[in-house]
Amino acid sequence: MERTLVLVKPDGVKKHIVGNIIERFENKGLKILSLKMMKVSESKAKEHYSVHSMKPFFDGLVSYLTSGPIIAIILEGDNAIISCRNLAGATDGSKAAAGTIRGDFSLNIEENIVHASDSQEAYNHEYKIFFNENEIMDY
Ligand code: CMP
Repeated sequence: MERTLVLVKPDGVKKHIVGNIIERFENKGLKILSLKMMKVSESKAKEHYSVHSMKPFFDGLVSYLTSGPIIAIILEGDNAIISCRNLAGATDGSKAAAGTIRGDFSLNIEENIVHASDSQEAYNHEYKIFFNENEIMDY
């Protein structure tokens, strides 16, 4: 059984599509282990995107993630990481296939609605930024 972190980013919350997005993950068979709405601090956003800290778009990424509330979700299931990446679609919404979350709701790479961990290492780094161990349900 694998776990992954999904964030519904500020544009996803503002567009009132949180339910639609969560439904897609649940329909796939993924189990919600934890879920919260929160405003991300600048330090948490920088930690989350630390792998991109040298990229020219880093500052934009941080200000976007901190621009409004997000929904953070831990999901569990067989092959959860790749399954959620496939449901999210290609990073650039303009290139993402129709039927994926980004393909259906995003027009560009900056405001691309969701984040999903891209590897086990990424999940191990990311989930601790948003959740304490005692917030993750075992059922
Ligand atoms: P996410 O899956 O949250 O992980 C890193 C983010 O960086 C990605 O979504 C995009 O929103 C963003 N990103 C990746 N490449 C670029 C780029 N070339 N220009 C701007 N943003 C980018």
